[in-house]
Amino acid sequence: MISKIGQFKIAENKSERYLSRIKKLDLELKNYYSNKFKIAPEFDRKIVSFQGNKNIAFYRWYKYKEAFSAKLVESLVRKYCGHTSLNSNSKIILDPFAGIGTTLFSCSELGFEAQGIELLPVGQNIIETNILTRNIQDKSIIDRIKHWQKNRLWNKEGEAEDFQVLPITENAYPQETEYKIKRYLSEIKSEIPEVQGILLFALLCILESISYTRKDGQYLRWDRRSGRSRGNFNKGKILSFDEAIMDKLDKIIQDVLLEDTEPNIFKYLDNREDKGEINILKGSCLDILPSLPTEAYEGIITSPPYCNRYDYTRTYALEHALLNVNNKELSSLRQAMLSCTVENKEKDLLTVNSNWSKAIYICDCLPLLQEIINYLNYKKEQKELNNKGIARMVKNYFYEMACVIQECYRVLEKEKFMCVANDNVRYAGASISVDLILSKIAEDIGFEIENIFVLPKAKGNSSQQMDRHGKTSLRKCIYIWKKK
Ligand SMILES: C[S@@+](CC[C@H](N)C(=O)[O-])C[C@H]1O[C@@H](n2cnc3c(N)ncnc32)[C@H](O)[C@@H]1O
Repeated sequence: MISKIGQFKIAENKSERYLSRIKKLDLELKNYYSNKFKIAPEFDRKIVSFQGNKNIAFYRWYKYKEAFSAKLVESLVRKYCGHTSLNSNSKIILDPFAGIGTTLFSCSELGFEAQGIELLPVGQNIIETNILTRNIQDKSIIDRIKHWQKNRLWNKEGEAEDFQVLPITENAYPQETEYKIKRYLSEIKSEIPEVQGILLFALLCILESISYTRKDGQYLRWDRRSGRSRGNFNKGKILSFDEAIMDKLDKIIQDVLLEDTEPNIFKYLDNREDKGEINILKGSCLDILPSLPTEAYEGIITSPPYCNRYDYTRTYALEHALLNVNNKELSSLRQAMLSCTVENKEKDLLTVNSNWSKAIYICDCLPLLQEIINYLNYKKEQKELNNKGIARMVKNYFYEMACVIQECYRVLEKEKFMCVANDNVRYAGASISVDLILSKIAEDIGFEIENIFVLPKAKGNSSQQMDRHGKTSLRKCIYIWKKK
C-alpha cells in the first residue's frame, strides 16, 4: 500500500510531467510562429484599453473596463482595412463582440459601414444611445436635456416609483441616492423617447460612481458601508446623485454640441454625413454569425472576452437591473456568453451549426490544447483547482472561439484581415498561450498568420498565482490574421 506522502509525490510528479509537456509543446508552437511575433511599442496598454478613450468626446461617457480605444481601431483600420477614404464602396467592418461599440463608432467615423454583434443589454443600450446622440438633428432634444440639468427635475416633488432590484444588487446605493434614482426614473417617463433614452443612458453611466460597488474584474466588489460585505473594502468617495448626473449631462451636451472637448482624432470629420452607417445585431455571435452572408465583410476588428473568469453579467448587474433584466434572464445571458466563467455549461455547438465539426476537429487535433485540457482535468480530479469549473471553461473557451473563427473566416472577403486583441492566462501553474492556440486554430481554418503583436509590458499574475507558482508574465497581444 502506498502511503499518503507517496501518493502526494506521485501526483506531484504527474503534474510536473504534464507541465513539462505543456511547456515543450508551447515552445514548439512559439518557435513555429517566431517570425510572426513582434513587440509593438505603438500598441501600449493605454491604447489597448479603455484608458485611451478617457478624454475623447463621445467615447468618454461610459467607462466599459473591457473596451479598447478608438485610437487602436483607427490604427488597425488604416493599416489593415484597405483604405481610409471616405465614401468608399460602403464596405462593412464587423465586430462579433461589440461591447460598447468602439470598433463600430471608430470605423463609422472613418467612413466605413460597421456591424456589431453584442449579447449584453448594457452594451446594446450604450451602442443604441450613442447612435442616437451622434445623429441628433433636432436641437430641441439637447435643449430639453439642458432644461433637465438646469432645473434638476429629479429634485422636484413627485412620484418615486420603485425600480428593479436583483438579489445581487440589493442595498447598492445610499438611501438618498436610491430615492433620487426613483424620482429621476419616474420623471423621465413623461419625455419623448429620444430624451428618455439619453437620460436613462446618463444614469447608466454614473451607477458605479454613486453606488457602494466597484467593478473589480471577476465580480462586483462591495464597500463595507453597504452593510452587505464582511470585508473591509472602502471604495473611497461615493459621489452624490446630483454631482454625478450633472457632470455626466454636461459632458454629453458638450460632446454633442462639439463644445469644449479636447481635440480628438476624428475632429476633422465635422461633416457628419461622411460617416458610415452602424448596425447592431442583438444576441450571441454563436447564433448570429452563421446567418451572415459569406465574403461580405472588408475587415473584422474585435476583442472577445478573455479566458479569465470575468463574469460580465455580475459586473454589470446594477446596469442590467435598471434595464429591467430579471434574475432568470441574467442567468440565461451568463450561459449564452462565450465561455469565460466557471459557471458556463458546455454548449451543444454542433446543434447550433453542424458545419462546425471542422472547428471542433481542429481543436481535438491540437496537441498543446489537448495537453492543457488533460492537465486541468487531472488537477480537477486531484481537487487542486481553485474552482472545478476552470477545466470546463478553458476547454469550452477554445472550442467556441474556434467556431467563431470559422464563421469569421467564412464571412470575410479574400485577402482581408481579422484583428483580435486578447490576453494570455494561467491556471494551476500552466501558462496558457491563448495567442498561439487561437492563431494555430485560425491557421488550420485557413487564415494566414500575418503577425502576433505583443504589447511591450507584459501583464503580471494574480497575487494568488504568484505566491504559488512564482512570478511570470503573461502576454497581451493583437493577432492579425489574413484570409487567403
Ligand atoms: C472584451 S469585450 C469587447 C469590448 C469592445 N471591444 C469595446 O471596445 O467596447 C467582449 C464583449 O463580448 C460580449 N460577448 C460575450 N459573449 C458574447 C457572445 N456569445 N456573443 C456576442 N457578444 C458576446 C461581452 O458582453 C463583451 O461586451
